[in-house]
Amino acid sequence: PRICVLKGGLSAEREVSLSTGHECAQALRVAGYEVVELDARGDVAQRLVDIAPDVVFNALHGRFGEDGCVQGVLEWLRIPYTHSGVLASALAMDKDRAKAAFASAGLPVLPSLIAPKADVMARHLMEPPYVVKPNNEGSSVGVYLVNEGANTPPQLGAEMPAHVMVEAFAPGRELTTTVMGDRALTVTDIVTDGWYDYDAKYRPGGSRHVLPADIPAEIHAACLDYALRAHQVLGCRGLSRTDFRWDEARGLDGLILLELNTQPGMTPTSLSPEQAAHCGISFPELCHWMVGDASC
Ligand code: DAL
Ligand code: MG
Repeated sequence: PRICVLKGGLSAEREVSLSTGHECAQALRVAGYEVVELDARGDVAQRLVDIAPDVVFNALHGRFGEDGCVQGVLEWLRIPYTHSGVLASALAMDKDRAKAAFASAGLPVLPSLIAPKADVMARHLMEPPYVVKPNNEGSSVGVYLVNEGANTPPQLGAEMPAHVMVEAFAPGRELTTTVMGDRALTVTDIVTDGWYDYDAKYRPGGSRHVLPADIPAEIHAACLDYALRAHQVLGCRGLSRTDFRWDEARGLDGLILLELNTQPGMTPTSLSPEQAAHCGISFPELCHWMVGDASC
């Protein structure tokens, strides 16, 4: 079968996607597929018609690639594709609406609000510490932390959209769990010197991954349970990764679901391929499974 790996694209996570796409294309070749790599630009529909792949492997991150847009193009063209469909992708990418869905399923999320950028810069809309971030980006692009005791509200850069999310800051450890179909794999504890920001995420050695996380069995089980339920409540397909914060002083009550990523990173420093490997699933096997799981 011929696989088209869609990568790059138009979002702020373009560089991350180029890396994910490169890794996945290599793995798919190892798994025996004919692979065509395609940088997803404005002419993506026409290029896909020309390439006529049996399956599209979606290696895009962020806007247009992770938010239901390209999924809609693929539905229209009737080409099976990996990962989540239109609705789940759009829901997960909208952090505010995704949180509403998680809360309705009884999953623990942080209090937050959406506000015009000007209001957020004029006064504290929440007691610090809090975080300001775009409602629809990933990889910690455009995340501002307002520390406890900060006098002034954050001055947001021109790159920030007209409306932003203001979210309570929860202290604690960064935990993450990958879901593969109907199975939650394991829990990784992400150890950084400071903030798990873009640099810590993608610079080799920028963070240390403890796998499986050295946490109580109860917390491990809760991460697996919450990640699978989050995947299901949004209607996700294939691979997803759910990120948590855990304040160990508060036990199970301290475990908060931060977000679900429908297009988890598959770069050399990414978490999901590591979790799969820990479960005995090699990277080519993981990509092969994703191709088999593709639909439209
Ligand atoms: N948004 C990045 C790619 C991730 O969640 O892995
Ligand atoms: Mg994300």
